[in-house]
Amino acid sequence: MWSDGYVTDIEYTTHYFHHLAPGHLRFVLTLKGLVGAAVDDAFDHMELGCGQGLTTLVLAACYPKARFFANDFNPAHVQRARHIAREAGLDNVTFLETSFADLEAADLPAFDFIACHGIYSWVTTENQRAIVAFADRHLRAGGLFSVSHNVAPGWSPLAPLQWFIRTYAEGLHGSSERRFREALGVVEEMAGSGAGYFAMQPAVRAAIARIKRESARYAAHEYLNGAWHLLTQHDMATQLAPAKLTFAASADMVQLNERLVLPDAQRAALAKFEGQPLYETVKDFLRNAGFRRDIYIRGGLRLSGGAREAAIAALPLALLRPRAACTLEAVCPVGKVQLGAAHAAMLDALVEGPQTLATLAGGGDGTSLVRAVQAAIRLAVAGHVAPCSIGWNGGADPAAVAATARLNRVLLASAAVAEPAHVLASPVVGGGIGVPQNARRAVLGTGDPLPADEAAVVAAAYGPLLRQLAVA
Ligand SMILES: C[S@@+](CC[C@H](N)C(=O)[O-])C[C@H]1O[C@@H](n2cnc3c(N)ncnc32)[C@H](O)[C@@H]1O
Repeated sequence: MWSDGYVTDIEYTTHYFHHLAPGHLRFVLTLKGLVGAAVDDAFDHMELGCGQGLTTLVLAACYPKARFFANDFNPAHVQRARHIAREAGLDNVTFLETSFADLEAADLPAFDFIACHGIYSWVTTENQRAIVAFADRHLRAGGLFSVSHNVAPGWSPLAPLQWFIRTYAEGLHGSSERRFREALGVVEEMAGSGAGYFAMQPAVRAAIARIKRESARYAAHEYLNGAWHLLTQHDMATQLAPAKLTFAASADMVQLNERLVLPDAQRAALAKFEGQPLYETVKDFLRNAGFRRDIYIRGGLRLSGGAREAAIAALPLALLRPRAACTLEAVCPVGKVQLGAAHAAMLDALVEGPQTLATLAGGGDGTSLVRAVQAAIRLAVAGHVAPCSIGWNGGADPAAVAATARLNRVLLASAAVAEPAHVLASPVVGGGIGVPQNARRAVLGTGDPLPADEAAVVAAAYGPLLRQLAVA
């Protein structure tokens, strides 16, 4: 059976993942003092298990000089992605209808980036081994392996819930969606009767409420697969070690500043593990993490002192949304963090266009650069700014401007796009930019019209951005 116990009769959701964008990865890595394999915008990129392929499509449009490959064994996913690539005239991307086990036979080059998002926890141990072997064979020295996975302890209370839904659904007939709904109905009945498992575990009750809100596309791929692994970061690092991969950083911007993640007492407890293999796992226990997005590196140059400072100073940052839509607060794991005048000034400066951290720091000594970095992290966590594309050098590559314009028009109009695109491709950030629904309604006329006064305000704010993205 080609599915290997994985759900194949219902397509996965259509999402773009900004933490896989090369500019974002370079930003995080540079702050950690590391240099990856990709030195310019002519790199090689592979996405393992690409689903609908939106992330790879957006990145391929942003980086016309790079080569993109992506695989998925579900033909419905691959057909859609190929169709969109063809409609958008993207000739630097290849979608392979291939399983992880069969990738060895495909004639693929060495890569600077291998992305594996939403895969590793949900496939069999044999497929996990095939993924690690692929990274071992195909990642260049200095190459980055981005991987996400469910982690204990956050997900642990839900393990019996996943087991029950999957096992009950296995005994039913019909589509995955139907079987999932029926199993969920039984779960709700149990919970409603006051069953101890649900009554004693607030995380399980919250999960049920969440599942009911989520699309069946997501829920079936999360809960119905034959394989479902909860790994610790320590487990993941151990499994990747044979491929010469070591942990570089979390890909979550907020993790770059632990003050935004853990209260003081917990940071003190964590400090005892500094430099030890259990550091990240202890952090997950402290914050009760249920999911991780991480960057592992094969080798990797380590910069120090002046070289590291110069690399950080040269990092460019861009505004992601209209200045008027930037509220002065960031929602962090420790709670809401208020942003101040320095953050507002940085946002004002970015209205003119992307700036390097050196410029945003306003000259001065290393302290002002450190302050600019911290402000940039908070603004990125708030969703207001993002690192620019790897090739950005005072302006975007004209070929990327043309390719992203073509893709954006296709994303808004093509019948091959399974769900309304929540992002459009930006040649400046080298990735997707979220476009809120009200902006689509006001500027693009999609969906129900907004009341006229609200439409005017939203159109004034988002019109320039959507014109830049070549759709308005
Ligand atoms: C949860 S989805 C994630 C998709 C995409 N990475 C994302 O995050 O949107 C997992 C994907 O892996 C694919 N997949 C599962 N097992 C596979 C296998 N053995 N070989 C290739 N693709 C597989 C599925 O078809 C599905 O599209």
